Amino acid sequence: MDRIVVRGGTRLAGEVTVSGSKNSALALMCAALLAEGETRLRNVPRLRDIEAMLDLLRALGARAEWAGDHEMCIDGSSISNPEAPYELVRKMRASFMVLGPLLARFGSARVSEPGGCAIGVRPIDQHLKGLRALGAKVRLDHGVVEATTSGLCGGRVVFDLNTVNGTQNVMMASVLASGETVLENAAREPEVVELADVLSRMGADVRGAGGDRITIRGVSALRGIEHQVSGDRIEAGTLLCAGLATRGDVTVTGIDTSSLESTLDKLQEAGATLTTEPSRVRAEVGGGRLCEVQAVTAPFPGFPTDMQAQLMALVCTAEGSSVITERVFENRFMHVPELQRMGADISLAGRAAHVRGVPRLGGAPVMATDLRASAGLIVAALAAEGDTTVNRVYHIDRGYERIEEKLRGLGAEIRREG
Ligand code: EPZ
Repeated sequence: MDRIVVRGGTRLAGEVTVSGSKNSALALMCAALLAEGETRLRNVPRLRDIEAMLDLLRALGARAEWAGDHEMCIDGSSISNPEAPYELVRKMRASFMVLGPLLARFGSARVSEPGGCAIGVRPIDQHLKGLRALGAKVRLDHGVVEATTSGLCGGRVVFDLNTVNGTQNVMMASVLASGETVLENAAREPEVVELADVLSRMGADVRGAGGDRITIRGVSALRGIEHQVSGDRIEAGTLLCAGLATRGDVTVTGIDTSSLESTLDKLQEAGATLTTEPSRVRAEVGGGRLCEVQAVTAPFPGFPTDMQAQLMALVCTAEGSSVITERVFENRFMHVPELQRMGADISLAGRAAHVRGVPRLGGAPVMATDLRASAGLIVAALAAEGDTTVNRVYHIDRGYERIEEKLRGLGAEIRREG
């Protein structure tokens, strides 16, 4: 079982380029099923979740191969078996996003319910609500979602809450439907916008993505395209937190900084001095001091839940008391007990974590529990005095490509053992 060992206390400095966006790439891989012909994606990160999605696409009968270090090609023309089995879907919840494309392209799909995960129950009711609004017959059969249609028809979907993958799944189902679809209360995340842009370039008619009302007019067919996946905004925020936690001076490149504004605002509130350009941002600690923040996670453009653990790790050694409230998922504080083992002074009250800054954290053996919690532990370990061993590091490998190499390039003393 791999683990990562960090010797904390080294000040990080230098420039690092982020990998392509995991969450964008996963949705775009599903979208490729909609095209007649081959879709090529570049700047795809080499991650466990991406490999899991490749395995699923192949199981469906699609051709899905790496065509270079970070380039892949997908062709859904040969799909013969629109069924996504439990053992593949449970490994990676985003697999559920093959449902919309399969239904749109082939008129039927059987996809296992993804089930919950460490951070929450993760229901799919909004996905199903949207597909039914397009005329699909959807039934749950012993943990499998079975959807059929003789041809989807445009409809109006009012999401009861902001759901990123729900918006993406229903958007993909609607692009080949007859007539117009309107998605109200749609998610506004950059990953939704990137998907809409790619679908439009494939020949779809999608307008309004990035706002909470998206209109899709169905077309008869989509063609494969080539696309460069955008940089990972959460990896960028994570690396900035790592640099700031060591009172360092780190520049992150390869991202669209407009997708990171709420994170950058929060880092400035914590005392960071930022130099921001369209595709790069430098973060230093102004005056050597970090100070308390008030943060509440929210759908885009709010502060991202995927940055919550990393921000908490950062403010553990800030002056004053911070309050970080998790409003998106119901169980996303599993990094707290591990940070407490490192000497953090955190108390939980419902959805709020009260963090009183301490002068230093101390290295300790800790356990990764989910992807972003483990990223938070790495941030804390870099700032801590002494050695920290982060166990179950496969969680990190789901969402961060060669994280130890990127951090070592910034001067971190970090190695993988296994
Ligand atoms: C996406 O998950 C991301 N994953 C998550 O990133 C991210 O945390 C999340 O959006 C929120 O930004 C991918 O894109 C692959 P949601 P998604 O549907 O779409 C509830 C990471 O670390 N909900 O926006 O599954 C749900 O329970 C991962 O990279 C329903 O109630 O999240 C949650 O409380 C973790 N019914 C809230 O909505 C539904 O039908 C937001 O979830 C769907 C969701």
